[in-house]
Amino acid sequence: DFTPRIFSGIKPSGGLQLGNYLGAIKRFVQMQDTDFETIYCVVDLHAITVWQDPAELPGMTREVAAGYLAAGIDPERSILFNQAAVHEHAELAWLFNCVARVGWMNRMTQFKEKAGKNAEKQSLGLYAYPALMAADILLYHATHVPVGEDQKQHVELTRDIAAKFNHDYKVDFFPETQPVIEGPAMRVMNLRDGTKKMSKSGESDMERINMLDDADTIAKKFRKARTDAEPLPETAEGLEGRPEARNLVDIYAALSDMTPEAVIAEHAGAGWGAFKPALADLAVEKLAPISGEMRRLLDDPAEIDRTLARGAERARAIAAPILKRTTEIMGL
Ligand code: ADP
Ligand code: NA
Repeated sequence: DFTPRIFSGIKPSGGLQLGNYLGAIKRFVQMQDTDFETIYCVVDLHAITVWQDPAELPGMTREVAAGYLAAGIDPERSILFNQAAVHEHAELAWLFNCVARVGWMNRMTQFKEKAGKNAEKQSLGLYAYPALMAADILLYHATHVPVGEDQKQHVELTRDIAAKFNHDYKVDFFPETQPVIEGPAMRVMNLRDGTKKMSKSGESDMERINMLDDADTIAKKFRKARTDAEPLPETAEGLEGRPEARNLVDIYAALSDMTPEAVIAEHAGAGWGAFKPALADLAVEKLAPISGEMRRLLDDPAEIDRTLARGAERARAIAAPILKRTTEIMGL
């Protein structure tokens, strides 16, 4: 009896890259055409779990908003806003800090990966991040979250928090949110090292495609992408043990809405001298219009701010009553 509703977010912690597009935004756009209500957030409160320069943060928030919009998120059909504009996120996160157990947080593998050997030097916010993520989701009684493999543990924690809350207060208030994995979760690897995820914060600009890159830059980066010396295999099994080749085939497949098997069938035995230019052309065809539209939107920051502010109002109309009811249930 919960409205089918999707919540997801992207951090404004650096420029958007191809992984954000193929692994997240492209799917978010498609979900607008389903029966789900769709709520998409620029999660600035998550970004500040590590240092963000206050002079840069508003620009990065607008860049993520522009990325959503340019890729096809319709601010009428979806609710699009930034997290800090809806203070209910931070309030519910505190309430959930008091529901979640320290032992649960200690089991979060992503914190261990991000903190490395320096756990003691990290912000308390980075450690408590999954409770804020649970608040983001449950503040809207979201029933589904599109997530990559790396976030599945956080969705399980969200369910644990909802279940403990419902149990402790003897209510049936929060839904059991499900992860949606539509098709194989796309993981875009970087163009210099096919075994590392493409990310906003990699050291070299040549290793990632930024959503703001223009046509020439996109083409140049694909032409210079690192590969092995073998031609493409005759079948997809031949990609085994060839991470750079697999990554370029996967990117081609995702951009063209083909399966990797179909891409191999079409380009079986092709050398890189033929495949890389084909990939560059395809990427320019699909991505350059988006980067062009992003630049156009970013020319008018005030308009982006107005769009986000309207989204925040719509978000609060759902969030405020749910937070109010939560505090009442807790006796606050
Ligand atoms: P980043 O990982 O770049 O810091 P976020 O953590 O804000 O960005 O991720 C936003 C969304 O983009 C998440 O759904 C994440 O799974 C997806 N994403 C980020 N990088 C990749 C990638 N290389 N491949 C696939 N999806 C990615
Ligand atoms: Na919809």
